[in-house]
Amino acid sequence: MIQFSSLDDRPLDQPSPSVLVPTMGALHEGHAALIRRGREIAGHEGNVTVSIFLNPLQFNSSSDLATYPRTLEADLLLCRSLGVDAVYTPSPEEFYAADHSISIIEKSLSRTLCGSTRPGHFEGVCTVVLKLLNTLRPSDAIFGKKDYQQLAIIKRLVRDLGVSVRIHGVETAREPDGLALSSRNLMLKPEHRKDASRIHRALLCARDIREAGEHRPEVYLKITRKHLVESAPSEMEIEYLEIIDRETLVPLAKVAGPALLATAVIYDEVRLIDNIEI
Ligand code: PAF
Repeated sequence: MIQFSSLDDRPLDQPSPSVLVPTMGALHEGHAALIRRGREIAGHEGNVTVSIFLNPLQFNSSSDLATYPRTLEADLLLCRSLGVDAVYTPSPEEFYAADHSISIIEKSLSRTLCGSTRPGHFEGVCTVVLKLLNTLRPSDAIFGKKDYQQLAIIKRLVRDLGVSVRIHGVETAREPDGLALSSRNLMLKPEHRKDASRIHRALLCARDIREAGEHRPEVYLKITRKHLVESAPSEMEIEYLEIIDRETLVPLAKVAGPALLATAVIYDEVRLIDNIEI
């Protein structure tokens, strides 16, 4: 008999790990890093499933959904080359019943950052993720730290609703110039793609400021903002730039413990997010 008091120590339903990497397709090296981590966790005995599902519930605008890149053939090739065991590619009609009427609302962590400008986005994310976890029943699921808020909300979802899965966060994969890999990078105009490397450079400044012993959030924000906007193209706009607690995602009054500097930047219609742990 096994006694366990923490969910992290509970016996697995399955004898070997069965790992899920949820995606919306248009796979790139960032997803490859998630899949490789999944493969490591699964080992020889376990299996890795990638879901490719462009979830309509998490898009605020129909034009954003319509223009989101779709590259299924290439995605399947990448999955095969990375040793993925199964790829789940439901259509929206298969996935959601025509009269589906239940969704999951997170009421705290989703109020800030991306949640404040994308109403319903995290409701769509929570609903699809819970349904994927219930449908595929993985022992482990992998998410990227680029979507830090999403990762925090999914951990909360699993904790609060007692979902039997371990959630893993994987570091953000970057282009050589520092731009965080994202399916949306494909939608940038060439001049905006070139300029977008400033985002990571600007965020990196925060680490130097921390090393200098600075505690005032306004100092971090002022310097980072300056780097973000200085000689940026006029079409570039900062949607948010916040210095927050890593657990609660609440803006900090003093930078003392582990913090996160997070931003969303828009070039024309293309919205990019990034963050750095400081
Ligand atoms: O991060 C994503 O690609 C999506 O939000 C996810 C987690 C696959 C849910 O649709």
